[in-house]
Amino acid sequence: MRKPIIAGNWKMNKTRDEALQFIYSIMPKINNEVETVICAPSLFLRCLVKRKENELKIGAQTMHYDENGAYTGEISPLALKDIGVEYTIIGHSERREYYNETDETVNKKLIAALKHNITPIICVGETLHQREENKTNKIIDRQLKKAFENVTNAFAKDVVIAYEPLWAIGTGKTATPEMANETCSHIRKTIESIYGKKTADAIRIQYGGSVKPDNIKELMSQEHIDGALVGGASLDPESFIKLLEF
Ligand code: PGA
Repeated sequence: MRKPIIAGNWKMNKTRDEALQFIYSIMPKINNEVETVICAPSLFLRCLVKRKENELKIGAQTMHYDENGAYTGEISPLALKDIGVEYTIIGHSERREYYNETDETVNKKLIAALKHNITPIICVGETLHQREENKTNKIIDRQLKKAFENVTNAFAKDVVIAYEPLWAIGTGKTATPEMANETCSHIRKTIESIYGKKTADAIRIQYGGSVKPDNIKELMSQEHIDGALVGGASLDPESFIKLLEF
């Protein structure tokens, strides 16, 4: 019922030529059954959008909430939409840690993305310390409730939520499929408590954190996991294609 969504988050990697070579190698493998998104550095977004064919979607890794203004170095949702970008990651833990992203700015950006018809991928997740203190659900509820503040039911179902435990990002430590599913199920329940069952059943939840070709199948077989947000294993086209073939 929910279409699987595999998104690569390249972070600050690749040159323009490498980015183009990558999409040319994966494009023949993309089909209608798995939504495939590449979130590239902003510098290459325009050229990837222009060269892509078929169902491949191009996404940004962050954006600002205002359409324009005195924000040196920032990226406007208006400009992203204008060049044909269809997705954006919002609130990635690296943005929260290094660039002052807060639950409040995530909320503003979520609303701005929806307004401009850009699909937001909202990242939530707990630190190792928070998990050990049994605070995972509490932390995630706080992040979700603020992120979705003033977002109406009609728009909420289009948002993609990425559950990314911080201790699993880039560390090689994946949450077990059961653990990831349990938290994704909790996320769905929280969405249900805000928007009702129909929206909760429709919204897509990804898992992210050391997803690789050898663990994707098990993760994707879990009831509440509808996709993956992938860093390291999205950089090599062969590995990325394997992820699409889960
Ligand atoms: P990773 O990154 O797959 O390299 O752990 C995931 C992410 O940061 O989204």
